[in-house]
Amino acid sequence: MKSESDCTLTIAIDGPAASGKSVVGREVARRLGIRFLDTGSMYRAITWAAIQRGVNANCASKLSSLACSSGIRLVTQSDEDRLLLDGTDITDRLRLPEVDSIVSTVSAVSGVRRALVAQQRVIAADGPIVMCGRDIGTVVLPEADAKVFLTASAEVRAERRAAEMQGRHNFGQVLDELRRRDRVDSERDDSPLSPAEDATTICSDDMTVEEVVLEILSKVRQC
Ligand code: CDP
Ligand code: CDP
Repeated sequence: MKSESDCTLTIAIDGPAASGKSVVGREVARRLGIRFLDTGSMYRAITWAAIQRGVNANCASKLSSLACSSGIRLVTQSDEDRLLLDGTDITDRLRLPEVDSIVSTVSAVSGVRRALVAQQRVIAADGPIVMCGRDIGTVVLPEADAKVFLTASAEVRAERRAAEMQGRHNFGQVLDELRRRDRVDSERDDSPLSPAEDATTICSDDMTVEEVVLEILSKVRQC
């Protein structure tokens, strides 16, 4: 097994919306004593920047320039991950409904992906990391030591996400929104959501977070 001090240990976790990637990935990273990066927050940050600047979600060239010129910095403060965009903490904006509604359109733009994938690779080159997203095992870190495709039925994922929202959105709305986003993410031409050929698929419909974490750790131990 590669140890956490091995500078090449990389773990890729991909999967559809609300499959548990960030909760599970953060805990796997904590137990291994290595870093965690939720790449979805970077796509959300560019989407928020576009909304702020009035850039249309269908204008690929402006979105690409925005992704190239925006400074994204991820910092941990009091055990919380915060995202700074050009120095401003926008963490609390990343999950607003207006971001949810266009983030998949923005993320389908190749120029946006190129800019963010380059930054993600630079971050990964700095040392051991658990990275989660849609294209980590297929595109960002194709040589990752362990690749997991984490999934669950749309209904279970919507139930979990609706529970997080504490009744602010009803189950039906959340389910429709997840399905719509999964469809756009899976059907785009550039880096669609899809398991890497060498990924282990874990369906967490009947699994707790702890059970998924333990399964991933046992896979990492075999590396
Ligand atoms: O947390 P949730 O699964 O709902 O979404 P997220 O991981 O924050 O990702 C938001 C959106 O960013 C996704 O629906 C994708 O459109 C995009 N994304 C992507 O294209 N590639 C990634 N590596 C990560 C996210
Ligand atoms: O990052 P992603 O969008 O894939 O999902 P998440 O934000 O990590 O997880 C969505 C919700 O599902 C969180 O509230 C998790 O605690 C919950 N979850 C769960 O209850 N059981 C699992 N096996 C995985 C996630």
